[in-house]
Amino acid sequence: MYNSLKKVVENELQGIHEAGLWKEHRTLQGRQGTTVVADGKELINFCANNYLGLSGKQELVDMACQALGEYGYGTSSVRFICGTQSIHTQLEEKLAEWMGFEDSITFTSCWNANEAVFAALLTDEDAILTDQLNHASIIDGIRLCKAERYIFNHMDMADLEAKLQEAQGKRLRCIVTDGVFSMDGDVAPLKKICDLADKYDAYVVVDDSHATGFMGETGRGSIESEGVLDRVDIVTTTFGKALGGAIGGAIIGPKEVIELLHQRARTTLFTNSLPPVVAATTIKVLEYIDEHPELREKLWENTNYFREKMVAIGYNVPESVHPIVPVIIGEGSAASSMARDMLDEGIYVIGFSYPVVPIESARIRVQISAEHSIDQIDLLITAFEKLGKKYEII
Ligand SMILES: Cc1ncc(COP(=O)(O)O)c(C=O)c1O
Repeated sequence: MYNSLKKVVENELQGIHEAGLWKEHRTLQGRQGTTVVADGKELINFCANNYLGLSGKQELVDMACQALGEYGYGTSSVRFICGTQSIHTQLEEKLAEWMGFEDSITFTSCWNANEAVFAALLTDEDAILTDQLNHASIIDGIRLCKAERYIFNHMDMADLEAKLQEAQGKRLRCIVTDGVFSMDGDVAPLKKICDLADKYDAYVVVDDSHATGFMGETGRGSIESEGVLDRVDIVTTTFGKALGGAIGGAIIGPKEVIELLHQRARTTLFTNSLPPVVAATTIKVLEYIDEHPELREKLWENTNYFREKMVAIGYNVPESVHPIVPVIIGEGSAASSMARDMLDEGIYVIGFSYPVVPIESARIRVQISAEHSIDQIDLLITAFEKLGKKYEII
């Protein structure tokens, strides 16, 4: 009878409320851009992963409309039955070539890519070494594989080395890290990780979801900005952030690995392939990124401007280079109440508090886009200045 489940669910819901962890969903009207209309109010949007400002761009919409005409709407199937269209293969070849790897395989999300990449390649004879703060999709992906799990302290290379030594008896050692961590915008020490991988015969997987398309000289991600494009073995990434922001993800790597993933990855074997419109548009996005280096330049200019101004007015902004900018508020309820007040100032940002981030460093996370104008960023800074004084933070 549903009555028993109803009671359990109601208790759970009450618990989430009481713990202050309730997540509100704001409803946006219209297109995703630097401004959005949320619950009827126009706000400047500083909480999307729309790093290059492509999500609502008319050129992309036009490309997608053309692709819809050519390939239709859905695939109605998984890859190995009748869900592989020429456009999927073209995207996989293009993405691999664009990143400088042998091959790639696409999924309907990076979540699905991360669920596939460990279970398909590792067995109980193997070891997986994972940063403590890796994304939830990596954590869940690891749960699905039988390899022994070693969690190393966040970006702590001495701890990683100790764990690699412990894992020397295993058949394979896989080190996995986010390229950029989404709560702090901090960049993994990929050079040191690759050095340790060489020393202890491990292979390296980087989830570059928060970097593909804009970090590094040509936008190939943190593996480019950290100088390890030719040293990392496997990259997972999303099309849902800088690369147009719709949906989709990929695993990029050596051809044998990709071949085995086509055979073994459950999140491609038993679920529909990427909508062809997304596959076709993502190819265009990769070309667009190469043709428009000024988008990356503008993103870094905007990011540096905001970071410098916030430090100058007295905020604690942990040092990094990334357009994810955590503005540390301190106490959890202050962060959420200040984020709510920001809405009255016409600014859309989100507060994060414990247990998502450490208890003493609740923050408002700002995400900068290439599309933001300096005037919009100035409005954001003015709002922070006003509310920082009100909450006695600056
Ligand atoms: C580091 C990282 N990996 C994977 C994902 C999941 O990406 P997708 O939305 O394509 O499933 C995210 C999304 O937030 C992410 O931040």
